Amino acid sequence: MDHLTRINLDHWHDAIAAHGYTPEQINDITGDPYDQWTVARKEITHADQHVPFIYQHALPDHDDVRAWADSLTAASRKQSAGRITTSVGRHRSLLLLGPTGTGKTHQAYGALRYLAPTGINWRWTATSSADLYAALRPRAGVDSETEFRRFAHARLLLLDDLGAAKNSEWTEEINFRLINHRYENQLPTILTSNVLPKELLDRVGDRVSSRLIEMCDRIVIKGTDRRKQAAA
Ligand SMILES: Nc1ncnc2c1ncn2[C@@H]1O[C@H](COP(=O)(O)OP(=O)(O)OP(=O)(O)O)[C@@H](O)[C@H]1O
Ligand SMILES: [Mg+2]
Repeated sequence: MDHLTRINLDHWHDAIAAHGYTPEQINDITGDPYDQWTVARKEITHADQHVPFIYQHALPDHDDVRAWADSLTAASRKQSAGRITTSVGRHRSLLLLGPTGTGKTHQAYGALRYLAPTGINWRWTATSSADLYAALRPRAGVDSETEFRRFAHARLLLLDDLGAAKNSEWTEEINFRLINHRYENQLPTILTSNVLPKELLDRVGDRVSSRLIEMCDRIVIKGTDRRKQAAA
């Protein structure tokens, strides 16, 4: 997409209206490659390409998730004040906990979709822990450190299913290095884990859980397994 191209907003009306904008505004071609609407169109296109199919209509219907996204937006606007493009700023992270199927990943991608029309350059990266380990596994022709930095330095990162895979010393080291980098630099991160708060320490260990507790707004998604409900 270039900055002169209108985009299809068929399944974006709710996310756009949530910010008080209209689809016509988003598709307002001003010719300026840096204006708010151009950035919004780029972000919506990024989301269309990277949000998994079943979450393509997701929005954060959990109030606390939406509040976190609003706070991130406000902080990013403030920290970018005066610059031509408005980019994601330093901010607290979000930790979504709860049993299988309650909607953690839905809220996470919902938050990313909700952020898209704001006119801020998010350019988020998303991965599950299992995919992260697969991407970092040493293999010929791939520099694992370069791969690691792609996640560690992402401006906004979704790390889904932390602590779901079986731990080894190697996965523990990856978790620690990644979370520690995000923690020390206050890089906003959305994390999900299918445990209850009291089980977190057991799953990810002392040093990771201690950092998560300090750096994150923690939200427990309650309810039953929505997949079983849907099947019933
Ligand atoms: N708020 C919601 N509105 C509509 N559908 C939802 C909502 N939350 C979740 N769902 C649907 O319920 C199912 C389970 O949601 P999701 O994948 O987010 O669960 P999860 O908590 O991430 O589960 P797991 O721990 O297994 O990863 C999906 O089909 C999802 O689309
Ligand atoms: Mg999930």
